[in-house]
Amino acid sequence: MHIKRNISLKPYNTFGIDVLANFFISVSSINELKQVLALNEHPNKLILGGGSNMLLTKDFEGLVIHINLKGIEIISKNDDFVTIKASAGENWHEFVLWCINNDFGGIENLSLIPGNVGTAPIQNIGAYGIELKDTFVSCEAISLETKTLETFTKTDCDFGYRNSIFKQRAKGKYILTSVTFILSKNNHKLHIDYGAIASQLETMHITHPTIQDVSKAVIAIRQSKLPNPKEIGNSGSFFKNPVISKSNFNTLLQNFSDIPSYPISEDEVKVPAGWLIEKAGFKGKQFGDYGVHKNQALVLVNYGNAKGSDILNLSKLIQKTVKRLFDISIEVEVNIL
Ligand code: EPU
Repeated sequence: MHIKRNISLKPYNTFGIDVLANFFISVSSINELKQVLALNEHPNKLILGGGSNMLLTKDFEGLVIHINLKGIEIISKNDDFVTIKASAGENWHEFVLWCINNDFGGIENLSLIPGNVGTAPIQNIGAYGIELKDTFVSCEAISLETKTLETFTKTDCDFGYRNSIFKQRAKGKYILTSVTFILSKNNHKLHIDYGAIASQLETMHITHPTIQDVSKAVIAIRQSKLPNPKEIGNSGSFFKNPVISKSNFNTLLQNFSDIPSYPISEDEVKVPAGWLIEKAGFKGKQFGDYGVHKNQALVLVNYGNAKGSDILNLSKLIQKTVKRLFDISIEVEVNIL
């Protein structure tokens, strides 16, 4: 076991924020992870997966445990479906591509989402009409309390929009070690009704799309709208899309007739936070090394050496301005540390 000291976390978070961890270890087996968890001299621990959904605002005084568990395994298959278990440290997009190359369908709409397999269920990643929960079977996680491996079924996980048990009552209590998915082997059920996908496929002159085509379309859309974290530090959507009552929405419509919305229930609608932030004048705004992305106002960016606290302060200003203009509170989606 090799614990390093004073390590920069810059390469371990997609925002590219340069803070230090007092102690750092990368674990590549469950046994090693259990040994590290048993160390009493480091009571303060931070579990790091792909680092794609966090904003680091200060040095971490404690032990950072980087989850580097690898492996993809076919658990079972029949004529129509395959069950696959992927280890938590597998890169999400590489896992999606592995499935597509094997012609396993179901997660192609989730192409190019940053992060790792083990962090995907925590916020139930979603894009273009599909969420992780749609193909999720179960996951395994080590309890920080008992140090034993437990299995969580889909029902146990209590998935919601960018939400799961791991963001609620199990928050900070478990480390996910693997996720099991059920994917189709043939007769793939494609989800291409999401506006941007249909028009992208048309641009690509594809009339009978395969899962490969859908993945390519999603990649093209994401590349045109969202900054690549390898080039510009970011954490995807910084805020969640707020859900508001229909009556509040109707009042807003009187002043903002072009406000988009998606029905949620009989009396609630979801409003794109990106639209609200753009209307509030923040889209494309740059303040030194940080700002709001020019193509998608939901995404806050680090152009170089921004501090996490700068980005946090900008997010608070955005929240305050949106509240003042629209009387809507927008919630932060990323974890602030
Ligand atoms: N919009 C604007 N201005 C903007 C951004 C968006 O007016 O700057 C409007 C668009 O014109 C459109 C609507 O908002 O009418 C929705 O935009 P988009 O399709 O880009 O989706 P989104 O609601 O902004 C969500 C997810 C994304 C996901 C896309 C596609 C959340 C918080 N974000 O964004 O997820 O890729 O849908 O499914 O739900 C992520 O979670 O990191 C992420 C990128």
